[in-house]
Amino acid sequence: MSIAKEKIVWFEKRIADFFKKGGREHLPWRKKRVLAYEVWVSEIMLQQTQASRVILYYERFLKKFPTIEALSKASWEEFLLYYAGLGYYARGHNMLETAKTVMKEYGGIFPRDRKLLEKLPGIGPYTAAAILSFAYDGDYLAWDTNLRRVMGRFFFGGKHLVSDETFWENKYAMPKKEMNAALMDFGSSLCVARPKCEACSLKTRCVYYREKGKREKMTQKRKKWTLSGNPKDMRAIVYLHECHKKYFSSVRESYKPFFLPVGYATRAGIKEYFKKTYGLDVSVRPPHKRILVNKKSAILIRAQILLGRPCFRVFPREAISKKILEML
Ligand code: ADE
Repeated sequence: MSIAKEKIVWFEKRIADFFKKGGREHLPWRKKRVLAYEVWVSEIMLQQTQASRVILYYERFLKKFPTIEALSKASWEEFLLYYAGLGYYARGHNMLETAKTVMKEYGGIFPRDRKLLEKLPGIGPYTAAAILSFAYDGDYLAWDTNLRRVMGRFFFGGKHLVSDETFWENKYAMPKKEMNAALMDFGSSLCVARPKCEACSLKTRCVYYREKGKREKMTQKRKKWTLSGNPKDMRAIVYLHECHKKYFSSVRESYKPFFLPVGYATRAGIKEYFKKTYGLDVSVRPPHKRILVNKKSAILIRAQILLGRPCFRVFPREAISKKILEML
């Protein structure tokens, strides 16, 4: 991949100008001296929720758990009071586990090393780069979907077309902290899914603009299947688990899947069913497969127990797979 240095400098200059005028400097995790702990909390929350909605959660959370030490001592129930509403609770479990590990292994201070950060539960390359750049002035680009979309479109004509992410690390004069924030803001205001090209000061040299997005459309991945069809006619088959990590690990036991009555095949319906029937609060993942049971539509869904004590028998996984095959 070879990009003229001059074009990179041009791009950076425009992005920096945009940031001066249109950057979201007011976001509370963008303050000058931000702690790694604060960046980490914000990044986990931002993975699933829009920045404007996260602000409230973030501030409430930090008031309750101002330090990683305070968080490491929290019970799941206590934690949930300040996290509920942010969805996908595997992240919550990972947060508590990471808080405990950072206390135990690093004396309460997030390591400054990318590899060590990535070993912590729930921290991948993106979050590690964000912590390093925002809190420790590290020279890393935080490759989230915004960065990929902006860079992919401008240099190559499509959001899926940027590759070899490390190639870009040393290309910019701007501190990565600002670069990351600028690209995130640019990608969430102008270079959005349906980009506002006419208002964009980068359009004169943007490959996406020049080609009218043709290349992006050609490489567009097919949309993931979501809960479609009429839920009134569908059944939900729910795989219930207590902890996401366990579910995907080598633990060989599981509950039998739950075949819910017709009419409960929505997120709210599944929540209601488990609350009413078993007194459990569950979080429901997006459906991952659609199948036919007796010629009727059914969806397979994973759900995780948030609160309440399950009283179900566990079975070896293999037995469950066989059982499902018999039932279908
Ligand atoms: N600032 C730092 N990280 C961010 C993110 N993931 N989204 C929006 N603004 C941010």
